[in-house]
Amino acid sequence: MSNNSILRARGLTKQFAGFAAVQDMDLDIAQGSVHALVGPNGAGKTTCFNLLTKFLVPTSGSIWFGERDITRLPPAQVARMGLVRSFQISATFAHMSLLENVRVGMQRAAGMAWQFWASPRRLGQLDERAMQYLEQVGLAAQADLLAVNLPYGHKRALELATTLALEPKLMLLDEPTQGLGHEDVERVTELIARVAKGRTVLMVEHNMSVISRICDRVTVMQRGRKLAEGSYAEVSANPEVISAYMGEAAEPAAAEELQA
Ligand SMILES: Nc1ncnc2c1ncn2[C@@H]1O[C@H](COP(=O)(O)OP(=O)(O)OP(=O)(O)O)[C@@H](O)[C@H]1O
Ligand SMILES: [Mg+2]
Repeated sequence: MSNNSILRARGLTKQFAGFAAVQDMDLDIAQGSVHALVGPNGAGKTTCFNLLTKFLVPTSGSIWFGERDITRLPPAQVARMGLVRSFQISATFAHMSLLENVRVGMQRAAGMAWQFWASPRRLGQLDERAMQYLEQVGLAAQADLLAVNLPYGHKRALELATTLALEPKLMLLDEPTQGLGHEDVERVTELIARVAKGRTVLMVEHNMSVISRICDRVTVMQRGRKLAEGSYAEVSANPEVISAYMGEAAEPAAAEELQA
């Protein structure tokens, strides 16, 4: 068990009516790394992700966040500890400005949501920090724009800013580039690489080109189990991984995905 792991799972198993969607998974996420969870359709990635973010309760196994056993803790509590899931819960408020959106995230983190009586000076300080998060994702110039008016490809950047506002120790991203056009994939990839500096990221991602560029470590799942783990170069050259992608694919596209 390595000491620099921020998140550790041991023997993680999730059964749905007797069917094991995740079976006996061990996972170590190294502090400061960008780690990808990949695998063919139905491999168990989303189930595993939901277990790690506490959206699902495991049938057996344990999860440790730092020194704490979080296996039985609810999602809100682990989020307060710094294990933050992005893109699904960090929904943005369409009719608030980008700055207000980030500020709400910060207020949530500080446990002072919607204190309308907060002093103007206090709000001014929040705004200053909110601007810094917007700067980190390249949206400072649009701070006063309503979120609803933001182009689709920039919405993920805003979601990333609202996630950063929660000061995550470990950021979990579910398919951050899904549904984006080529240019937006590039933008979001660069953003993740940028905000990952000094943080730790675990992402489920299908786009192998994205993974090859920004991930330090890749865990490949197949049929609920861990099939391989290593750098992108290592796992993409692994014959078992290649055949898993070939075998499960109706067409060779999935195998080609590997050769990003
Ligand atoms: N709530 C559930 N009830 C029953 N079976 C489920 C449930 N959730 C997932 N499964 C099954 O568990 C297996 C793993 O599903 P999961 O969604 O975790 O895979 P995945 O790797 O995320 O796939 P994809 O790449 O298609 O997103 C699949 O066979 C799926 O049908
Ligand atoms: Mg999935």
